Amino acid sequence: MNVLNQKNPVRLSDVTKYFESGGNRTYALKNISLEVGRGELILFLGPSGSGKTTLLTMMAGLIKPSKGSVFLFNRKVDTYSPKELQKLRACSLGFIFQTFLLIDSLTVLENLRVVLRFSGYPRKETNQKAIRLLQQFHIEELAGKFPVCLSQGEKQRVAVARAVANDASLILADEPTGSLESKQGFEVISLLKKLSETEDKSVVIASHDLRIVEFADRVFRLEDGSIRGNRPASFRPLKPYSASEHQIFAGNG
Ligand SMILES: Nc1ncnc2c1ncn2[C@@H]1O[C@H](COP(=O)(O)OP(=O)(O)OP(=O)(O)O)[C@@H](O)[C@H]1O
Ligand SMILES: [Mg+2]
Repeated sequence: MNVLNQKNPVRLSDVTKYFESGGNRTYALKNISLEVGRGELILFLGPSGSGKTTLLTMMAGLIKPSKGSVFLFNRKVDTYSPKELQKLRACSLGFIFQTFLLIDSLTVLENLRVVLRFSGYPRKETNQKAIRLLQQFHIEELAGKFPVCLSQGEKQRVAVARAVANDASLILADEPTGSLESKQGFEVISLLKKLSETEDKSVVIASHDLRIVEFADRVFRLEDGSIRGNRPASFRPLKPYSASEHQIFAGNG
């Protein structure tokens, strides 16, 4: 087992992030401190512009804090060399980007195979593993298609399949249900929940989708870059995923 899997994947210590342009400073995150434990599913809820994507990209070591420190697998991010960070992302981190970021010149199957190869998966087995992943998300018929031919919902499911392909111990999901209808959204969240519960993966989700609340171990409300609350009573889902959707998924499982 990867030794990184033994450690708490993320810790933020008094992190502030601002962007500067034309003499103006925009604060995206203000004084955020938190730790993500192994096997936890954490949800960040917040309106547009509250800092969700900035927070997740920071947790992936893709951007640096303006103040404070980010620790990935118990080590301060800026002590990793670029090569070490690259390896960490390839082997221990799965990222579902809000804009999917699929590789347009590759088919769906190839998009998955690339991730598997980068994470060191045996070359001969990548095809089979990629097909299994597509089956898991009920999108095997998309294998030979290029991203440009896919609907938003299909792209989203491919992006989720790709994020879990490398067996990452930390999965960062930016609006993973944004383009999905209710049943598909339920399937995606159930799968992420299952990974956290049965495989000890840590999952951090940023979303507007209140239906995810019932799946989360901890819920944080993000507002103007600050954490305003931790699972207050007002976080009841407006319209929970229905019992019939639970059944449908259980039946497919
Ligand atoms: N690269 C950047 N340059 C300048 N400002 C930025 C940059 N990235 C984010 N911001 C600003 O930081 C704030 C937080 O943005 P962020 O994208 O993290 O919000 P969000 O919660 O993900 O929003 P959404 O729900 O619309 O995706 C916003 O005010 C945004 O305009
Ligand atoms: Mg965002």
